[in-house]
Amino acid sequence: MDSQTGNLKNKDGHSNLVHRYKGRLMSCLSPVSTLEAIKQFDVRDDDIWIMTYPKSGTNLSNKIVRCTIESTSPNITKGTDFPGNVFEFHPQGLPKAFHQTIAEEVSPRVISTHLHGELLPEQLTEGKAKLIYIARNPKDVATSMYYHFSVDPSCPDYSSWSEFYEDFKSGQVVFDSWADHVLYWWNRRHWENVLFITYEALIKDRRSEIKRISEFLGMPLDDDQIDMIEEESSFTTMKKNEASRPLFPIWKLDPALSPFVRKGIIGDWKNRFTVAENERFNEWYAQWIGDSGLKFDYD
Ligand code: A3P
Repeated sequence: MDSQTGNLKNKDGHSNLVHRYKGRLMSCLSPVSTLEAIKQFDVRDDDIWIMTYPKSGTNLSNKIVRCTIESTSPNITKGTDFPGNVFEFHPQGLPKAFHQTIAEEVSPRVISTHLHGELLPEQLTEGKAKLIYIARNPKDVATSMYYHFSVDPSCPDYSSWSEFYEDFKSGQVVFDSWADHVLYWWNRRHWENVLFITYEALIKDRRSEIKRISEFLGMPLDDDQIDMIEEESSFTTMKKNEASRPLFPIWKLDPALSPFVRKGIIGDWKNRFTVAENERFNEWYAQWIGDSGLKFDYD
């Protein structure tokens, strides 16, 4: 195993799909020049930032936020319904990095990012913007991520689940450690401009969470609007929409193998983790997260 990049390998056996930046393992879609520029990015007071570790409900929460804006501001131009511009990406062949395109967008901007809190723009620590962090239980994140890596050609390859499992636990995956990522925002959840929610709550009581998000954004919704957003953000509707409109056309993912709207449940990890892996994972969680008070539903 490469000490710098774990078991990560390109599909053709090279490890150039990942690099380390400030100690964190990053995708090659996020080159150093982009990551450096992002620190100085101009944040607007009315920006809405959706911050997630990958596979934690980025598309789902984006849908809810965009529908909320569109319902409460009828004059707004209908936007895309996916985080097509993942803030830190600059895929090869595109003239501009996504953050450069986003810089030119009209307000209110909805900005999706998987970056660790430490790598985000300086101005985000000054109370600007509304920041929504979505966390998901790490067992389902690992399960979803392993699947994503297997179908997305821009992601590193793993020869087996057990290899991935070990790297996930030790934070040797793209976007680095799940535990660090989540704890950074869990420890800042009391900030006035931060809303910390979980994927599991979005699945179990979407209605209440839609209401909570809209009130946090200062865009209260009536019952009919909540009904509509519940329907638009449902797994069935998003799956149907994705089939007709692939989320990331530039990556040419096979829509039949979509990594973005796949199962949408709590507890798929049970189909992946062995009993022994689960026990070791629980020990790992207790060691790294235990004292923080952060708890998840696992089924
Ligand atoms: P699974 O792979 O476990 O099914 P992200 O958007 O951050 O990449 O997260 C993807 C995960 O969110 C996938 O999880 C996907 O199925 C799930 N998801 C996407 N849309 C959803 C929806 N409308 N309802 C529930 N889950 C959804």
